[in-house]
Amino acid sequence: MDIEALIGKLDLGTKVRLLTGTDMWSLPALPQIGLDPLVMSDGPIGVRGERWSPGDPSIALPSPTALAATWDVELVRRAGRLLAQEARRKGVHVLLAPTLNLHRSPLGGRHFECFSEDPYLTGEIGAAYVEGVQRGGVATTPKHFVANDSETERFTVNVTVDEATLREVYLAPFERVVRAGAWGLMSAYNAVNGTTMTEHRALQRDLLKDEWGFDGLVVSDWTAARSTEATATGGLDVAMPGPYGPWGAKLEAAVREGRVAEEVVDDQVRRVLRLALRVGALRPAPEPGGEAGTGVAVGTGAGNGAGTEAGTRAGTGAGAGVATVLPAGEDVPVDGVALAREVAARSFTLLRNEGGLLPLTGVRSVALIGSAAAEARIMGGGSAQVYPDRIVSPLDGLRGRGDVEVRHAPGTDPRIRLATLAVPCSAVFLDAEGASLAEHPLADAEARWVGRLPSDVDTDRLAAVEIRGAYTPDVTGSHAFSLVGTGAFTVVIGGEVVFDGLVSPPGDDPATAFLSPPEQRMTLALASGVPVELRARHLTTASRGMAFVAFSLGHADPSPGDDATIAEAVATAAGADVAVVIASTTPEVESEGFDRTGLALPGRQDELITRVARANPRTIVVVNAGSPVLMPWLEEVPAVLLTWFPGQEAGAALADVLSGDAEPGGRLPTTWPLREADVPVLDVTPSGGELAYREGPLVGYRAWERTGRVPAFWFGHGLGYTTWSYDSVAVTGTTVTVAVTNTGTRPGREIVQFYLAPPEEDPRRPARVLAGFSAVDAAPGQTVITTVYLPERAFQVWGERGWRTVPGEHTVEVGRSVADRRLSATVTVPE
Ligand code: BGC
Repeated sequence: MDIEALIGKLDLGTKVRLLTGTDMWSLPALPQIGLDPLVMSDGPIGVRGERWSPGDPSIALPSPTALAATWDVELVRRAGRLLAQEARRKGVHVLLAPTLNLHRSPLGGRHFECFSEDPYLTGEIGAAYVEGVQRGGVATTPKHFVANDSETERFTVNVTVDEATLREVYLAPFERVVRAGAWGLMSAYNAVNGTTMTEHRALQRDLLKDEWGFDGLVVSDWTAARSTEATATGGLDVAMPGPYGPWGAKLEAAVREGRVAEEVVDDQVRRVLRLALRVGALRPAPEPGGEAGTGVAVGTGAGNGAGTEAGTRAGTGAGAGVATVLPAGEDVPVDGVALAREVAARSFTLLRNEGGLLPLTGVRSVALIGSAAAEARIMGGGSAQVYPDRIVSPLDGLRGRGDVEVRHAPGTDPRIRLATLAVPCSAVFLDAEGASLAEHPLADAEARWVGRLPSDVDTDRLAAVEIRGAYTPDVTGSHAFSLVGTGAFTVVIGGEVVFDGLVSPPGDDPATAFLSPPEQRMTLALASGVPVELRARHLTTASRGMAFVAFSLGHADPSPGDDATIAEAVATAAGADVAVVIASTTPEVESEGFDRTGLALPGRQDELITRVARANPRTIVVVNAGSPVLMPWLEEVPAVLLTWFPGQEAGAALADVLSGDAEPGGRLPTTWPLREADVPVLDVTPSGGELAYREGPLVGYRAWERTGRVPAFWFGHGLGYTTWSYDSVAVTGTTVTVAVTNTGTRPGREIVQFYLAPPEEDPRRPARVLAGFSAVDAAPGQTVITTVYLPERAFQVWGERGWRTVPGEHTVEVGRSVADRRLSATVTVPE
């Protein structure tokens, strides 16, 4: 296809129009050149789809921290293939993922959404993700380019960072995925060294496009493009969302008046069309009067069996749906449920296992403690949320095995907000007279349509949306209800108006209206078995056919109070063979839009764990969090299993791992502190609008090693269910070969890690860095030989004249974590 010829057919107005969304998620179609509307969707754990609604479900994989904890690029590629399959099923061409920012501070609100504190591991996992998705014919936009490592003042913060640190640490994963062939990239909200990223010519044009040769498309983060000329000439290609934005007529005028060269616009259009061609959204236009082209529409919906409006988006012009470029033989559908379970088990990281308590053997009864045992916390908050069509909670998973008696006690609920009322409801769309325009079923009491409304709603007449349902209490007493949302609401429960008023959005981040809207509480005396009618009406209209509907009703049963429920949990634990406590963070702790304020587990969970462990010495703590939490009870419990945010198959994978059907395969992608005060880089609060990366390249384990402080668990740590000996290492050039033996009694998997230390010691630089890793499987007693090629970049530093390879004797150390190094050898780099 001759893209240049197509560009030549378009007038300036049409070209400029192509560079801004027609709505929240798609670019305009140009039927005259055979271009379908390019559709984008978040990422990274699934494919949320254009409607951002429970009615449009997606597979939910474990959080990105979990994906990185697998250290398994093949598995990540398979996860990518599944995501491409989900994208095609939902008519999505561009997946807004993966997130390649770093774990600079554990307080980062989107820490769970990033892979690691280490740029090399981030780059390798990120590249595998990009390759997997794109091999399925769907584009990725690794994000957020660059230095968007925390959330405070996220739209405006100016990150100041020296060039060597930027190159060696924060840009490194992006450079890696560009080398892996990423078709897109997302430009961040923040500024770097004084220039906001969407206008950053030095980084977006000179470095990314010219030096690295990136031929893909740079899309803005949502609303991040805030100027006309500076963004266009600064290397941004597409401004999202639309239809409003800084380009359109303003950019057209800037070109006509000579302030922006038309070649700039042509290059932006070229990149859009190139991406469209790659994902099959650009096909030969029909000859006037001829037949429409067919395209290769694929939309099997295989995998999670979601009953959705899959693959039904209307195509314009030539053909519909999203084409696939899958090579023959690879187009077998991926089983999403099975893969979500496999990735979860492989990411679970066994931090501590005194006396080999895990896997469980000969256990007849389990006390399963914690509110997150029944209401699984499977993902972090913000734009990374998707709606899976099923969730297996730890309680479901353990009970589902049927081989042990499982007694559940919630203990304490750390959530600040009430859980969404779990009864099927409906959303009724109303006109100004209160007449129904359309009605849609809801799985629970949450209504959510961000941008596009269901196609049968007459948006011109829309005046309100009402959640309708009925609730029958199981217990008599004082029930708590909540309304979550911003705007004008009337809530009627059991015929009584319990809320009637206006809720203003908190703060000045417009996204919080959808990501973490405020909660209003009310209590009502209800009788067991007597149903009450629920109605929550929200006044809202649509503009240009678009509307933003996001509100819900929450509920909690009457509670005897935490003192009583904790005492009940302790008694349940005392009476069982083992106790398993699920300790979790909450949506108020880990989400987009704000940073964490501390690392402690929320609520009274530390106290609960300590008391349960005293009541039952065989206590296993399952830490259900996307990022590090403090574990003051660590020495008092024999086993700690970190399950991250485990995705929709959480409980099934937990049962697999506790029983020993699967080995917990994870290794920490980030160092876990013992005390908050020890964390070398913690602060995420800008001062005078500036966040200075004063620590230079010393982040994560690189910083911990220099401080001399000891964390709870080092980067790379994870036990598995067998033991290993590291037998020998040999070096040829920069190729390192290692022999390891499974010295335990069951088959196992080991992540062999390679760290490289420079010839000269310099306290301002890392003592060593991860330079390679390899996953090996071995039967009991089996010795396995594995080889890695250390990349040239591992031997280089960024200096005044660019990259410089450091000559001399580098030391390669091979081991089980950055602190547990078993073998070492010398790699000589000639002068
Ligand atoms: C987030 C992006 C996301 C976009 C679209 C932004 O607020 O920072 O990661 O892709 O919204 O939802």
